[in-house]
Amino acid sequence: MEAAGELWQWQSRTDERRLLEILSYGLVGIGALSALLLCFVRMPYGRYFSHRFGYPVPARLAWTLQELPSLLVPLGLSLFSGAARLSEWPNRVLVALFIVHYAHRYQCGSTRSVPPGSPAAQPPRGNHSVQGAAGRPSFRREAQPSLGVCPGLALRGKGTRFARALIFPVLIRGGKPTPFITFALALIFCVYNGYLQGRSLSNYAEYPSGWLKGPCFIVGFAGWLSGMAINIYSDHILRNLRKPGETGYKIPRGGLFEYVTGANFFGEILEWFGFALASCTFESAAFAICTLFILGSRAHHHHQWYLEKFEDYPKSRKIVIPFVF
Ligand SMILES: NC(=O)c1ccc[n+]([C@@H]2O[C@H](COP(=O)([O-])OP(=O)(O)OC[C@H]3O[C@@H](n4cnc5c(N)ncnc54)[C@H](OP(=O)(O)O)[C@@H]3O)[C@@H](O)[C@H]2O)c1
Repeated sequence: MEAAGELWQWQSRTDERRLLEILSYGLVGIGALSALLLCFVRMPYGRYFSHRFGYPVPARLAWTLQELPSLLVPLGLSLFSGAARLSEWPNRVLVALFIVHYAHRYQCGSTRSVPPGSPAAQPPRGNHSVQGAAGRPSFRREAQPSLGVCPGLALRGKGTRFARALIFPVLIRGGKPTPFITFALALIFCVYNGYLQGRSLSNYAEYPSGWLKGPCFIVGFAGWLSGMAINIYSDHILRNLRKPGETGYKIPRGGLFEYVTGANFFGEILEWFGFALASCTFESAAFAICTLFILGSRAHHHHQWYLEKFEDYPKSRKIVIPFVF
């Protein structure tokens, strides 16, 4: 009887491993298919918002709900599903890194304390704004936006304030609504990937002793950390281009925006490739490749859009990988 129970457990573990493998191939397929589709149609959100893709969900609500499964699913799997490998430190740390991205984003609120001479302190040279797809194009002069600095990069001044946990939606300024279909697809994606990463790390990934001191983990962790810092800082720059109440678009300046249009996307891509190196699982590599496909396409669209809308958009800027692409 006991042997039968063990056999059943072994069988279901083997089945689930196979399932995770198939889902990983699926993730790469989803990324590649999205990139292909996005060659013909722009992802209907933000500046490309369109009513044709379903009822508009307000930006804050959409971001809060669609990202939540990426936090709750791995957390739930870790706490309530046996989590056979979570007694090991590498697994604990790696699950924590995944969750940290979604749960523990430290960000700056609006701040006027920028180190003199830093790129972020410079007034935007293209001092006009343009409305997105939802609005009629209008050009007008804007005052200098208040750009700030992020913890970890620099921490100064009285005006700096911090917040944590699911911050991104709360800090959105004038974000365009998300059509229901885009929202639903993002939600499904986060459940899918939350299960894939959470389950593989909490139940299956095995690491030799000393993994956390090895080169793969250390280099991968450095990539993850610097990618997250770039992502947060770049999102912060974008957010602070708008004053409260504004909804138009301006040319982003400072940080890696001096080199690429999709600086926030570059940060996220670097982050997940670092994570894949640190964890060395098939599932995390699939997620990194999927992110590259999806965010690379988005950055490409944004780049073309800026070139169309802003005559003075810097021609030397690459799309998403500094100096390369
Ligand atoms: N891992 C993944 O697969 C994945 C997928 C999607 C997103 N993400 C991450 O989620 C975050 C947001 O993604 P996103 O696609 O929404 O980024 P985005 O298009 O760059 O927009 C980010 C925010 O900044 C605003 N904004 C962007 N450009 C602006 C400009 N020139 N002037 C004024 N405001 C501007 C947007 O407003 P509007 O809404 O009004 O355009 C939006 O609120 C990023 O950090 C990204 O890396 C990750």
